[in-house]
Amino acid sequence: MSQARRHFEQAFAQWLGMPYAFAFWKGRVAMYAILRAMGVGEGDEVILPGYTCVMDVNPVKYLGAKPVYVDIDPQTYNIDVSRIEQAITPRTKVLVAQHTYGIPCEMDALLDIAKRKGLPVIEDCCLAMGSMYKGRLCGTFGLAAYWSFQWNKPFTTGVGGMATTGDAALAGKIDELYRLHAQEPAFPTAWMLSLQRVAYRLLIYPRTTALATSLFRWLTRKGVVVGSSSQAEFTPQMPGGFFTLMGQAQARAGRSQIGKLLANIAHRRRMQRVYDDLLRQAGWPVPPLPPYMDPVLVRYPVRVADKTRAIAEAPKAGVELGTWFECPLHPRETPLDLYDYQTGLCPQAEQAAREVVNLPTHRRAGEHTARRSVELVLGIGQVK
Ligand SMILES: Cc1ncc(COP(=O)(O)O)c(C=O)c1O
Repeated sequence: MSQARRHFEQAFAQWLGMPYAFAFWKGRVAMYAILRAMGVGEGDEVILPGYTCVMDVNPVKYLGAKPVYVDIDPQTYNIDVSRIEQAITPRTKVLVAQHTYGIPCEMDALLDIAKRKGLPVIEDCCLAMGSMYKGRLCGTFGLAAYWSFQWNKPFTTGVGGMATTGDAALAGKIDELYRLHAQEPAFPTAWMLSLQRVAYRLLIYPRTTALATSLFRWLTRKGVVVGSSSQAEFTPQMPGGFFTLMGQAQARAGRSQIGKLLANIAHRRRMQRVYDDLLRQAGWPVPPLPPYMDPVLVRYPVRVADKTRAIAEAPKAGVELGTWFECPLHPRETPLDLYDYQTGLCPQAEQAAREVVNLPTHRRAGEHTARRSVELVLGIGQVK
């Protein structure tokens, strides 16, 4: 048993105020562990927002279950709770509450439906570390939650994930999978990831991100570096080596990031205020969220009139512009039909995918970065 992993798990559980945490190679692996421990299998249905990452759908498909997509609320980008009941069938096994960009889902309404229908909720907190709903941390509402520490997530261990729960019986089942079925990462892979973390610390700044990302993707395709996703993950069959635990060096990086979490969260809140103010001063509509939602944004989402032009102009302007989600099951390469998504199923999600870009809120981005990013957005213009 890796001591470093245990320490990180304990620190994470303590921060969240939950008794059980299990660290995995990636967030998608943590999700898989939770679903498998819950007994999700052949013929079951899992409800998800139709505005997510395909890596969040793969675990459902790997278990032989069917993803059922619900359209999103255009303001919060989260599952539209008024549409959930229509999607529930006798085969529904789980509701996934994804807190998109760090904006909390409408948890009261969602939990009410879940309770009435006798369904468990699991929270996708991959983008929402520190976000609160009615004074309570996201990740503490559902039966379980999963988290991601991939490069552009709230904090990074290179790649990485965590499953958390307050339910002793579920924790026991996850623990059994963790001890008996998951594997340790291969030494060369873990070692390469450590090198990548060093390179990331030294090289990645808002002005260099576009170039570094292209280089990283190219090196991933060549199999030189540890990629966030492999080509094999664009088909819904589980690739070999998927069910892997977090490595020691990853866990040490995570443990150190936990120590900086409060500062990280405070910075992201500040950046949200800066973006809100800059956009409002320029006459851009920034509708307020309900006062009981207190998001910590992993990225700042904004709708623009011409997303393609924004993406093309960003590198020249030195702006770290995020594109997710590029389609209902990000990224654009996803063969939607293999994942049970038919175009037209979630019109709000499809529109958001056409219009939304996102801006950095991480600690290497400050007010100057925000100004430059907003200038680009203003130059592109609002959606009419
Ligand atoms: C909303 C969401 N959930 C889950 C995941 C999966 O996280 P990971 O990359 O750590 O597997 C991602 C990103 O890939 C995501 O954007």
